[in-house]
Amino acid sequence: MGKVIAVAGKGGTGKTTLCGLTIRYLLEKGLTPVLALDADPNANLNEVLGVKVESTLGDIREDVIDKAPPGMSKDEYMELKLEESLVEEEGFDLLVMGRPEGPGCYCFANALFRRYMDKLIKSYKYVIMDNEAGLEHLSRRTTRDVDILLIVSDPTQRGLMAARKIKTLVEELSIGVEETFLVLNRTSARQVEALESKIGELGFDLIGHIPPDPLIEEFDLKGIPLVKLPQSSLALRAVFGIMEKLVAEIVTAR
Ligand SMILES: Nc1ncnc2c1ncn2[C@@H]1O[C@H](COP(=O)(O)OP(=O)(O)OP(=O)(O)O)[C@@H](O)[C@H]1O
Ligand SMILES: [Mg+2]
Repeated sequence: MGKVIAVAGKGGTGKTTLCGLTIRYLLEKGLTPVLALDADPNANLNEVLGVKVESTLGDIREDVIDKAPPGMSKDEYMELKLEESLVEEEGFDLLVMGRPEGPGCYCFANALFRRYMDKLIKSYKYVIMDNEAGLEHLSRRTTRDVDILLIVSDPTQRGLMAARKIKTLVEELSIGVEETFLVLNRTSARQVEALESKIGELGFDLIGHIPPDPLIEEFDLKGIPLVKLPQSSLALRAVFGIMEKLVAEIVTAR
């Protein structure tokens, strides 16, 4: 069964960047196959990964499934459609949940996702799930059965409070999360030190921090996918460090 690592956090804290660099780590270490799951309606994990997406899970409409070809059950047809929306790349597949169909209704794609998630997860070693900034996806319970939840925060007291709210919500919803860790992004060692007592007070387990990285800015400016960051990238190195710890954690938990 694949290990599910989900990333949550306030808007713009670096969730998608963390997902992208996590995937880069897994690919580089041969910890494949990996499923990259973009559960943000404003999907952009594909850009960080340098992958084109033609269709999303959200494109699979109820009325389409109702028209399953003769000799095929609705379920089989659904699975076929699901497979069609998987983007297959070297070492990883990308699945994009996509946008809600009508005003606010995301129900069909979510139901679909939930139904097939278990089956899907079994085919991968790791599943990396990028989420939207709001907490909606958590209350809609698409973030189910997560082995590791990484909550990303900026290095501010307010940011930490927002991160804490997410952790509390997850606990209240009793979503199956094995372990939760805090990741501080765009953060220096000095800032970590300054925030240490607050982190402890809020009951967070800090797994690591990612420094501000001028190379990311440069890549963003030029529109180069962040998975292509060189080994010299400070953020890349930090994420690799975090992943070393996480993978060790996962292996010992087995
Ligand atoms: N450590 C870093 N150093 C420099 N730039 C960074 C760093 N981390 C993220 N960024 C940049 O900050 C911006 C926001 O990051 P990202 O898109 O990963 O955040 P997000 O939490 O996924 O945002 P959203 O809530 O909109 O989905 C991006 O342009 C990204 O490249
Ligand atoms: Mg994002």
